Amino acid sequence: MKSFGVTITGTGSYTPERVLTNHDLEQMVDTSDEWIQARTGIRERRIAAPEQTTSDLACAAAKQALQQAKLDPEELDLIIVATISPDRPFPNTACFVQKKLKADQSACFSIEAACSGFIYAMQAANGLIRTGLARRALIVGAEKISMTVDWQDRNTCVLFGDGAGAMILERTDDPAKNVCLAADMGSDGTYTDLLTVPGGGSEKPPSHEMLEEGLQYLKMEGREVFKLAVNAMVNSASAVLQKAGLKGESLRWLVPHQANTRIIQAVGKRLGVPEDKVFMNLEHYGNTSAATIPICLNELNRGGHLQTGDLVLVVAFGAGLTWGAALLRWP
Ligand code: UT7
Repeated sequence: MKSFGVTITGTGSYTPERVLTNHDLEQMVDTSDEWIQARTGIRERRIAAPEQTTSDLACAAAKQALQQAKLDPEELDLIIVATISPDRPFPNTACFVQKKLKADQSACFSIEAACSGFIYAMQAANGLIRTGLARRALIVGAEKISMTVDWQDRNTCVLFGDGAGAMILERTDDPAKNVCLAADMGSDGTYTDLLTVPGGGSEKPPSHEMLEEGLQYLKMEGREVFKLAVNAMVNSASAVLQKAGLKGESLRWLVPHQANTRIIQAVGKRLGVPEDKVFMNLEHYGNTSAATIPICLNELNRGGHLQTGDLVLVVAFGAGLTWGAALLRWP
């Protein structure tokens, strides 16, 4: 079978206008700006307007990426949206993105791998393009995660924010020219209860009782997740570096999932990546789940911090548990 190369031709991102600061949260739950900054590194996050859907956020990011790639939406043949806050249980959120963009030539599906979702989407698109099933793909990580947040639970409500990041991946005829040099993905379903929205699915369908128990809200065992996150991200990133025959110090950027400054710093240190090469922006957005990595990549790209040939390692960890990493050579 003929195989193709894959390149990145555009990136984009969008975060909603409304800023919710740590001081705002002090008025809502028993917390403090000092605690949140010291324990997480977050100062503020963005919250979508009630009428804004996840696909609205995704479309705003996608339009920027399409513009940079100089593509019309109808030239796309694949749309993948990574999200755990879909517009509806079904149809999938990528179909809503397709409708809003008028990208009528695309196959559309969503990926539900929580904070690792964008890396999973990148690998799915990469595989479909390399094998010739797709030519021009839009991949988006988009979350209106605020819809699952219990604004009375100080253990979780200070951590999350809404946003979206997008990327265009396109086929090149030379299979040796591939933007993704190596990748790793994994999951451990024994930990399904550590970070979850317990209600609303087939296990506990929507009901008055379910709502009264608050099972529509995100629940997390933070301390346990913290430990597993560091190990999983270090192991996944190390596996990718090993496959590529590289060490942490060769990277231009390490772009880790943005959940907690302390997790990110621990991962950077254990991988031997100097601090000034570990990208962080969670101060402004909090944890936007599947959107953190594409938002970071877009900020680096548009901020002029990426040159052709730069090595960028993205690594994520999330509910499931799921994890993944990918080494990119910036085109
Ligand atoms: O996206 C991927 C998945 N998510 C993550 O990766 C998140 C992973 N976990 C974390 O980032 C951290 O565990 C948290 C930020 C969630 C919590 O930080 P921690 O240092 O692990 O704190 P802790 O859970 O051990 O709690 C320490 C104390 C507790 O009080 P006691 O029991 O020691 O009296 C909490 O009740 O801090 C208390 N606490 C708070 N205090 C003020 C918890 N949340 C808050 C809060 N404000 N918002």
